[in-house]
Amino acid sequence: MKSYNLAVIGGDGTGPEVVREAIKVLDTAAKKFSLKLNYTHYDIGGERYLRSGEVLPDSIVAELRKFPAILLGAIGHPDVKPGILEKGILLRTRFELEQYINLRPVKLYDERFCPLKDKKPEDIDFVVVRENNEGLYTGAGGFVFKGTPHEVAIQESVNTRRGVERCLRFAFEFTRKRNKDKKLTLSGKTNVLTYAFDLWDRAFHEVGEQDYPDIKRDYAHVDATTMWFVKNPEWSDVIVTDNMFGDIITDLGAMVQGAMGIAAGGNINPQGTSMFEPIGGSAPKYTNKGVINPLAAICAGQMLLDFLGETAAAKAIEDAVIKVVREKVKSLAASKMGYSTSQIGDLVAGSL
Ligand code: IPM
Ligand code: MN
Repeated sequence: MKSYNLAVIGGDGTGPEVVREAIKVLDTAAKKFSLKLNYTHYDIGGERYLRSGEVLPDSIVAELRKFPAILLGAIGHPDVKPGILEKGILLRTRFELEQYINLRPVKLYDERFCPLKDKKPEDIDFVVVRENNEGLYTGAGGFVFKGTPHEVAIQESVNTRRGVERCLRFAFEFTRKRNKDKKLTLSGKTNVLTYAFDLWDRAFHEVGEQDYPDIKRDYAHVDATTMWFVKNPEWSDVIVTDNMFGDIITDLGAMVQGAMGIAAGGNINPQGTSMFEPIGGSAPKYTNKGVINPLAAICAGQMLLDFLGETAAAKAIEDAVIKVVREKVKSLAASKMGYSTSQIGDLVAGSL
């Protein structure tokens, strides 16, 4: 029997509730596919910070490195100043564990939930490969004359050839393996960000020409990308972009696939510890009401198993999610699903 040790961080707000349902489904899949999943839970998040002043102890970062994968609920607390937990927990983990890819599939499971007119599941099935360690997220920059009328605030985008190239290579490999349209689109802003996206663009074509001649290369400015997401989502196969643009367009992607409540992502270190999460955030106003949609967390669990190489178990979870989405839920939005959080978990586990 194959056995995996997994770290679990429920985190803030509705995080623990949705992670509970993800584990319910993972355990059901594990039983069916003869896997053993061992969970180690970490108490990290806003409550711990408010209680003890600790954000993410170094000792926990060291422990996290020993796991092949982490399941994360959500980070973000209404009583903590924005940035402290996000940078101190989420971004620190992404950076220190070198999870340099943020993989965000955008897939419509049922056309009832698509806000776009006349778009069907076959029209909306693409993946965003977001660079996850660089760009505007490194925290480079600073203030001069802070709080005075002469104040200067600088926020720098860091793009290294190594960082960009490893992201592009991952995206090319992923496009090849996915084997859909074999098309990789670079989304950028070469007309304005003439340093950063000049590097991206050159690296994109150099790497593509040299090592991925079988993959079609396409380019779209990021503003136009948002237009295509709405107008012609069927034109996208795999999209690769920088950290900030990837953050922005994947919220739009989540809505196009129905709701934040179904959108999952993976922070991937192909050689190390990866972390899987629902991308919707901690949703404080729904906390502990049993109304939040756990499907995104369940799909994060599916991505986790897929990453571990348990593709059959992952596929079974996806099929079960599709069945529940198509046959049961009334809406993907919190409190409108027609079922409670734990009932959705039961339904998915049941149809496994
Ligand atoms: C996301 C989130 C994070 C990000 C925040 C919470 C720091 O929006 O995972 O998309 O900006 O990456
Ligand atoms: Mn985001």
